[in-house]
Amino acid sequence: MDVVIRPYRPDDLPALRELTVSAFDGVTLEQNVEDALGVLNGRDWMWRKARHVDEDVAADSAGVFVAEADGRVVGYVSTRADRDTGKGRIPNLAVAADARNLGLGRRLIEHALDHFRALGLSYAVIETMAQNPVGNHLYPACGFVEVARQVHFARKL
Ligand SMILES: CC(C)(COP(=O)(O)OP(=O)(O)OC[C@H]1O[C@@H](n2cnc3c(N)ncnc32)[C@H](O)[C@@H]1OP(=O)(O)O)[C@@H](O)C(=O)NCCC(=O)NCCS
Repeated sequence: MDVVIRPYRPDDLPALRELTVSAFDGVTLEQNVEDALGVLNGRDWMWRKARHVDEDVAADSAGVFVAEADGRVVGYVSTRADRDTGKGRIPNLAVAADARNLGLGRRLIEHALDHFRALGLSYAVIETMAQNPVGNHLYPACGFVEVARQVHFARKL
């Protein structure tokens, strides 16, 4: 598969939202909350997870990078840069099911890290669910060290 990584364009948004919903099935906090409490406020986990892409684009569209193969979006990575602290964060990363295990996730992470370096940032952070074996394997393999574990709670009002 011949994949190029390029900057986000506004017409990518529907494809990124769709990819996010399909890719994150089983590995998103939004779905865990729904599994525990049911559908909340008339919005299911897919609606809420797709909105993360809207938020990423609204926060920093120049920090979103898209992987394209034969004109099709097969992955993306989103970033946030905090110049005051020198911190680069990767909030979302996804690769289409049929493009996985080819090194694309690693390439997208490396692309985000190069973006942070070009901005003069000092360090990068990324997080994954404990239930996500790929994230738990891939991030240390990309040089990240584990610094904390967090437990999430939710309740109905
Ligand atoms: C995480 C994700 C982006 C990785 O994309 P990818 O293109 O498959 O990534 P890569 O091919 O670069 O690397 C995948 C690595 O995970 C490994 N892997 C695959 N399945 C695995 C499993 N069940 N358990 C442990 N490791 C696994 C692969 O062997 C590979 O490691 P290697 O290079 O050391 O052999 C992709 O799986 C995805 O979109 N997942 C759903 C969304 C998600 O989890 N996003 C990240 C949220 S924190």
